[in-house]
Amino acid sequence: MHFHDCFVQGCDASVLLDGANTEKTAGPNRGLRGWEVIDDAKTQLEAACPGVVSCADILALAARDSVVLTKGINWKVPTGRLDGRVSLASETNNLPGFRDSIEVQKTKFQAFGLNTQDLVTLVGGHTIGTSACQFFRYRLYNFTTTGNGADPTINPSFVPQLRALCPQDGDAAKRVDLDTGSAARFDATFFTNLRNGRGILESDQKLWTDASTKSFVQRFLGVRGLQALNFNVEFGRSMVKMSTIGLKSADKGEIRRICSAIN
Ligand code: HEM
Repeated sequence: MHFHDCFVQGCDASVLLDGANTEKTAGPNRGLRGWEVIDDAKTQLEAACPGVVSCADILALAARDSVVLTKGINWKVPTGRLDGRVSLASETNNLPGFRDSIEVQKTKFQAFGLNTQDLVTLVGGHTIGTSACQFFRYRLYNFTTTGNGADPTINPSFVPQLRALCPQDGDAAKRVDLDTGSAARFDATFFTNLRNGRGILESDQKLWTDASTKSFVQRFLGVRGLQALNFNVEFGRSMVKMSTIGLKSADKGEIRRICSAIN
């Protein structure tokens, strides 16, 4: 949610606003969930200290807390963001899509000052959570006319498992772990899965097939001959970088009383 917020109008809680044609209503955001968790945090904060903590800060803090709760790293979240007053569905095409090439993914991240390492690191956020079948089922059936018909970048031994989870005519909304075997733990096994052809989203698996991103995956995996990188440490760093995108100045921002509406 924090990522989808920061890439549209900056980290200003614009993703939380209700209304006709707000960001929330757009395709890339329709899968977001957990709004009630943010509302609950806001209610408790307003009861204790009214008008102090913005909804944008709550999103940044909640993202960090999700990582801590799944046994990942802790980091200090800079605070003081202001909430915006503008939210437009039409601006959500800044967000990367699950079929985007690495070139496109890089361009979309670069637009916000995030480099290739930040891209690989932040997509590593898929070490927790799930995806609906609708975002990857097309990879499993009639993707090619050769072999088993599945996307050839999927490990052939993994295809039957995914087909069992997402049958061709089954429920498109059914949820499947993005990091098979370790979806509740914030660790680097997401990258091990990519190496083994066990990525769920096409955009994730491409991090391994493209040379420029593969080297960062390999560094997270501690491949010999390459300078090792600690995924959790880098994740904290890249998140702080992402969490400062496009911050609102006092004339364009406020501290909302409720997160789903401007004051
Ligand atoms: C190329 C960039 C990215 C693409 C294309 C992408 C795409 C997706 C898709 C399609 C889903 C499944 C959504 C659903 O079923 O409703 C998902 C889930 C998720 N993504 Fe990403 N994502 C990207 C980057 C990121 C980043 C940078 C983060 C965090 C720093 C992130 C965190 C998550 C999380 C936590 C989930 C699980 C949500 C849940 O369980 O409800 N993603 N992503």
